[in-house]
Amino acid sequence: MKNITKICCIGAGYVGGPTMAVVAKQCPNIKVTIVDLNEARIAAWNDPDVNNIPVYEPGLSEVVAEARGRNLFFSTDVDKAIDEADMIFISVNTPTKTYGAGKGMGADLKWIELCARQIARVSKSDKIVVEKSTLPVRTAEAVKDILHNTGSGVKFQILSNPEFLAEGTAVQDLLAPDRVLIGGDDSIEGKEAIQALVDIYAQWIPLDRILTTNVWSSELSKLVANAFLAQRISSINAISELCEKTEANINEVSRAIGTDSRIGPKFLKASVGFGGSCFQKDILNLVYISRSFGLSEVADYWEQVIIMNDHQKKRFALNIVRSLYNTVSGKKIAFLGWAFKKDTNDTRESAAIYVADELLNEQASIQIYDPKVVEKQIYGDLDYLETRSAELNKSGVTVFNDPYEACNDAHAIAVLTEWDEFKDYDWKRIYDSMLKPAKIFDGRNILDHKLLKEIGFKVYGIGM
Ligand code: NAD
Ligand code: UGA
Repeated sequence: MKNITKICCIGAGYVGGPTMAVVAKQCPNIKVTIVDLNEARIAAWNDPDVNNIPVYEPGLSEVVAEARGRNLFFSTDVDKAIDEADMIFISVNTPTKTYGAGKGMGADLKWIELCARQIARVSKSDKIVVEKSTLPVRTAEAVKDILHNTGSGVKFQILSNPEFLAEGTAVQDLLAPDRVLIGGDDSIEGKEAIQALVDIYAQWIPLDRILTTNVWSSELSKLVANAFLAQRISSINAISELCEKTEANINEVSRAIGTDSRIGPKFLKASVGFGGSCFQKDILNLVYISRSFGLSEVADYWEQVIIMNDHQKKRFALNIVRSLYNTVSGKKIAFLGWAFKKDTNDTRESAAIYVADELLNEQASIQIYDPKVVEKQIYGDLDYLETRSAELNKSGVTVFNDPYEACNDAHAIAVLTEWDEFKDYDWKRIYDSMLKPAKIFDGRNILDHKLLKEIGFKVYGIGM
């Protein structure tokens, strides 16, 4: 297998952009071209002011500034980049299907198939095609079927190389991953393709962190990793509700169980519910696949993780309504945070969206501040739910650029994202500007509750 000198990545999103920027940074001898159909997104990646790139991630603009124009390029010319490349990563979106068979459960693979067909049509030389997107187990079968039946004589090897980065820590995760997973065929050509990809990662990642498996194990491991992570959050969130009834404190329980080395301390932070584009989608996918094989107990087991998460978001909203004397109609509720976690501008499946939706149903007036999410995105997220008209969403929600203004005159504050800056606000000033009794619902348990109570707030945490 020849040395890889040109890489193309289809999809310049939250995975394709950071992942390939780091590959380009670490492998200056490889030309990396990231392509996307979305012209605005590519224009933003090419913005001369590197602070305007479309994905906010700590450290990412520095990586892009270093490699862009040297060996990292962003383009909308997908055909050209495919044609030139020795290795093509497919990093397009694989959302939950919104129509037809598997609606609301299975992954919509139409963008994956379009990529495979485009690669089949354009390629004039042999290529390694790498599934970077998260895919249902056995998707590579369909990709192979398309690429092995072109009649062009061009040979393709298909690898699975799922991405484990978390948003907000993407650059750090990519530079020093716990592991890289590469699945490929057991044939001589398959092993050569695996080795070609191992050689790229080995330029900065220790070999003992690069795992190789068959394609199906690799595809399935990605879904299972996300399911296990999300399951820990739903488990601790389930216990948080029990804590609220028993005067146990969820932070103390998390610490007590997390010090058991078999359980471990990570991913035990109770919250208003997990969000993000992947946990829910990937678990639904796992549930759908299990059901399609007739494994109803397996499917039901994992589905409970989602059911618990939906319950957690709903009960947070309900708790606000109940604590405000069973009505929030016409009352101002300030939201601190809209992103699904801190240090990202991504809002996909953010708990904040669903909590806002519940409160809008109760005719609350919501005043939102998030340090990185823009107004247009917030209205877009609410409109996407199609619960009510865009006009009604607009009239029920106001977005602020200043947290103090967002909290002014509010009956209550809800903390939806764990942004660090929230901890350092002048809480006395905020208290003085609110209606009394001033209530605060800390959906992330990040604030200093003792201090807030001393100021005069009535504080509601999760699981305490
Ligand atoms: P995204 O929506 O941010 O980006 C996908 C991009 O692909 C979009 O810009 C879209 O325009 C582009 N695209 C779609 N079809 C195309 C085509 N035919 N040609 C060219 N461009 C096309 O999605 P994302 O968050 O980057 O996720 C991509 C995949 O990675 C998903 O399968 C996801 O499950 C997986 N993943 C995501 C994360 C994460 O943190 N977001 C982490 C690990 C894995
Ligand atoms: C997650 C996984 O952590 C990544 O390994 C994976 O690659 C990625 O999904 C993916 O496939 O998309 P991400 O969703 O970016 O990454 O962020 P996480 O840190 O996992 O957080 C997900 C959600 O869980 C957030 O809403 C976060 O606030 C919440 N969370 C996380 C908790 O409520 N409690 C915790 O203890 C941890």
